[in-house]
Amino acid sequence: MANPKDNGGAVDGAGSILSTVAGPAEPPHPERLGPPNPIANQLLEKVTTDEQLAVEMPFNETKPLEYGEAAFTPHVGETRTPASQLATAGTSTETVASPKVGDGHPDLGDNPLDGPLDRVRVDDSGRELTTNQGVKVADNQDSLKIGLRGPTAMEDFILREKITHFDHERIPERVVHARGSAAHGYFESYADHSAITRASLLGEAGKRTPVFVRFSTVAGERGSADTVRDVRGFAVKFYTDQGNWDLVGNNIPVFFIQDAMKFPDLIHAVKPEPHNGMPQAASAHDTFWDFASLSPEITHMLMWHTSDRAIPRSYRMMQGFGVHTFRLVNAQGASLFCKFHWTPMAGTHSLVWDEAARLTGADPDYHRRDLWEAIEAGQFPEWELGVQTFSAEQAAQFPFDVLDPTKLVPEEMVPVRPLGKLVLDRNPDNFFAETEQVAFCAAHVVPGIDFSDDPLLQGRIHSYIDTQISRLGGANFHEIPINTPLAQIHNNQRDGMHRQSLNRGRVSYEPNSLAGGCPFQAGAAGFTSFPEPLTAAKVRGKPELFADHYSQARLFWNSQTAVEQNHIIAAFRFELTRVQTPAIRRRVLAGLVNVAQKLAQGVADGLGMEVPPPLPLATDLPIHNYPPSSALSLFSRPGTTGIKTLRVALLVAPGVDAGQVRQLYAALLDGGAVPRLMGERVGPLPGSDLDVEISFETGPSMLWDGAIVPDRADAYTLVDDEPQSTTPGGTLLNREVAAVEFLRLQYRHDKPLLALGNGAKLVYAAGLPLALPDGEIDPGLIIAERGDSDGPLARFEGALVHRRVYARETDPPRV
Ligand code: HEM
Repeated sequence: MANPKDNGGAVDGAGSILSTVAGPAEPPHPERLGPPNPIANQLLEKVTTDEQLAVEMPFNETKPLEYGEAAFTPHVGETRTPASQLATAGTSTETVASPKVGDGHPDLGDNPLDGPLDRVRVDDSGRELTTNQGVKVADNQDSLKIGLRGPTAMEDFILREKITHFDHERIPERVVHARGSAAHGYFESYADHSAITRASLLGEAGKRTPVFVRFSTVAGERGSADTVRDVRGFAVKFYTDQGNWDLVGNNIPVFFIQDAMKFPDLIHAVKPEPHNGMPQAASAHDTFWDFASLSPEITHMLMWHTSDRAIPRSYRMMQGFGVHTFRLVNAQGASLFCKFHWTPMAGTHSLVWDEAARLTGADPDYHRRDLWEAIEAGQFPEWELGVQTFSAEQAAQFPFDVLDPTKLVPEEMVPVRPLGKLVLDRNPDNFFAETEQVAFCAAHVVPGIDFSDDPLLQGRIHSYIDTQISRLGGANFHEIPINTPLAQIHNNQRDGMHRQSLNRGRVSYEPNSLAGGCPFQAGAAGFTSFPEPLTAAKVRGKPELFADHYSQARLFWNSQTAVEQNHIIAAFRFELTRVQTPAIRRRVLAGLVNVAQKLAQGVADGLGMEVPPPLPLATDLPIHNYPPSSALSLFSRPGTTGIKTLRVALLVAPGVDAGQVRQLYAALLDGGAVPRLMGERVGPLPGSDLDVEISFETGPSMLWDGAIVPDRADAYTLVDDEPQSTTPGGTLLNREVAAVEFLRLQYRHDKPLLALGNGAKLVYAAGLPLALPDGEIDPGLIIAERGDSDGPLARFEGALVHRRVYARETDPPRV
């Protein structure tokens, strides 16, 4: 840079502009800078406009507003507009342009890190391979060697960069909820809900807010199977224009524990046992049930956990809940408590346990694949967001404490009010960059949404950011593109590992005058906590009503249908059979006696044990008696999407009526179902123009919601040189053992089956009972005469909408 001093003339004072220490009492006059000197002029402009900003703030005008009564109304920070771009720049050379630093005129007041993901989406089309320094790689096949048969040269920086990056490709998995799948979409508000909240995403009918949603299991590691018995996470990041709101919920409305203090204990108990690392992703082991049976507050959650809620058919077919009581606050500061509910348009549907257990082997990615395929096919999953709202006065009348996360608010007490819908319409580009690096946090709320004093929620507010600092490598993980808000980030946080932002200027504190007071506090436009008045003794403990551990467990049990109750009993039997310590089994049974004698007896029978005396209660308060709530049954929400996205296997073999197959296929496709031709081998089906799409070994029964056996020729031929058979049990059917096993499992898992004409022979060969155990007609086992294919398909589709014929079930199963 030219030095004005070198230019002769009167330069006193100008030297001080160049100095980074000390200086005269007043900035120098331009004429003192000597002959025209553009660099010095810029420096002078910077110094004078800096000075001007400082002069305009002779004192901190808003200081008194921090005290006393005034403090209750947040004020907007004091700010001044700089006279020149250079005033707030870090350097007077900011306007120097280059292809790397840019044109020297940054958009003032803008943080380009925030915004659409297009800014970081990378595409390699037409590009040559380079190193991470942008140097083109000549040869990506071989390392650099001293001679073709010689050792690798240490200087091979290309090999070393590639291997080093590879060596560090893995990051720690989430300590819980490690296994998950996610998608992008939007939330659309049905109406202007500003009467109850000032959250802008809910302030206007039709307003759309982008979202990223991650579903997960809790206990399993990142590579564990999707269909294990577990709670499912349902975490939604709303990129609102007021900043990010994360509703980090589950598919079950209550939780295992009542205080954050117990979370590490719960997770240590349910994770694989520390001595042998078993079992993976399962609660069916001693340490979990040891902890559970000594923590009676868990009982209500155990009812949900052993119900089919813990083995959903699809992420698309489960409810979601915020679990805790939250607060909504409107622009006038009025607040209501609320509970958040997500209701799937596809209805709530689950697997059956035998099927779920087999699926862990047949397709460990079952839920991930289901979500991905539905979105790719344009069958965008939808949920409705609803809230139960209630005042503090109402809450005080409830027979439970709304701060207790092991309790729900029955819908009969407070109905769910719909707010808007969530649609997932885009799969991620990159699993790691998005699904793995996304960081949800229970502390991320926006103005209009606030916390309650639920002691579990209070602990979560701390936990998420804390864990993400180590999982995502430092304090700047909010700058990872999937985590940046669409709203602008402007604050004085600086530095740290992997910092992306390149903050201008020298000001990183507040109050300041040198940046015109910016960024300034937003006052009432910013987040304000609901001013809940509190005066109480500092204490470690829980309110009395938290000690009621059984009333809502009974409510849940009494609200289940007979089928659901049977499944709960079977699930306890399975879990406890895997527990090796009889005393733990006994303790669990003793807890169940407090829920229902029938439940305890059913589980005890399955374990060959006597029902023990009940566990003592933790309170003398009478156990509240709730009327059953039909909303708690899985069957109360069949959904509105009919057969859409349901998977139907058409079992084809040589001799099949290809015309009929095509007709069925087209009709199913027309209805939005996913038909596939299933046979012994993929490829052309001998003797027909059909192409088998999936084989029995890759598409076992568990992967299908229903199956059809189309008609076949009377004497159906396998291939030209194979013997023929027309009778059940004959040569052909002997060869079709995979098909027979397939049908038996479809039947055992209560799924609809349609057999047309000669296809029925396969059903007979499988030995499927044609009537229900009570002698009634099985509405899901449809056997139709040859030529009658329209009516039966409609009946089959009707059965498919109902998903399962639970009335088939006996224990043990008949087939
Ligand atoms: C004090 C109690 C709790 C603590 C300390 C806690 C802690 C954690 C931690 C450390 C993670 C991993 C976060 C990450 O690495 O990104 C996590 C994930 C998660 N938690 Fe909690 N949690 C608690 C209770 C709950 C409750 C009650 C719910 C449901 C309402 C819940 C839902 C979730 C979900 C859905 C995720 C996965 C988020 C994702 O998909 O990335 N947690 N939790």
